[in-house]
Amino acid sequence: MMNLPQGPGPIGVFDSGYGGLTIYSEIEKLMPQYDYLYIGDNARAPYGTRSFDVVYEFTRQAVEFLFKQGCRLVILACNTASAKALRNIQQIDLPAMDPSRRVLGIIRPTVECIGDITCSRHVGVLATEGTIRSMSYPLEIKKLFPDIKVTGKACPMWASLVEADEHLTPGADYFVKRDIDALLARDSEIDTIILGCTHYPLLLPRIEQFVPKGVKVITQGEAVATSLQNYLMRHADIEDLCTKGGGATFYTTESAERFREQASRFLCHPVKVQRINLV
Ligand code: DGL
Repeated sequence: MMNLPQGPGPIGVFDSGYGGLTIYSEIEKLMPQYDYLYIGDNARAPYGTRSFDVVYEFTRQAVEFLFKQGCRLVILACNTASAKALRNIQQIDLPAMDPSRRVLGIIRPTVECIGDITCSRHVGVLATEGTIRSMSYPLEIKKLFPDIKVTGKACPMWASLVEADEHLTPGADYFVKRDIDALLARDSEIDTIILGCTHYPLLLPRIEQFVPKGVKVITQGEAVATSLQNYLMRHADIEDLCTKGGGATFYTTESAERFREQASRFLCHPVKVQRINLV
């Protein structure tokens, strides 16, 4: 077993970059009492076009870093990492690092609410290439709602637009419209679109202009935060190990200055940021 700090610690939140902030913001809103550590691996984002092995390796490094900082529970606030690394981390790494720690993904909690939302039973998923190729969404939805037809479309540029802070420019519209049109052309009965990448809610104002009336656009933050709250209620042993000081520290593998500016703008409060290297 790895030599890790024992005793209580903050809740870890991990994403390839800024996208996880759309999950973190809802967690912070719902459960401000806990301490949090957030990692954005901005220097190596986007993850969406990377291979299984690379996403797994980068995610494992981030989880190990968060464990070494004392986290007992880590949320992969990244669909690509949840799709491509979660299972290996839970089955191979946790037993070797420390089986008492927990790592949770965000695809399952997103999918759980879909059955009550779609009327046509035709659901679209917009996500990174990695998430779409993994088939995680259709497989998870099928387990819970076998009657729902799922159509996925990869949006290879969207996360990069967010990372480059170009997501609210008219230039972003070209890619946003192109990918939404392509999804709806594949299945015109879709009445619900899941934004299956945590970066995409940052594009919401652009997305909403191209989605026809009557088609609902689903973001993940609230569902993930509620699911985490339920998890902590059901697992008192883990909850006891989460420190409750109401503080958050953000780590980025790129410029701390830039992360501070983006994160404080999005979260509407100042944030403490440190630059780190993940190895
Ligand atoms: N935010 C991530 C996700 O939810 C990954 C985006 C990327 O780095 O390509 O999939």
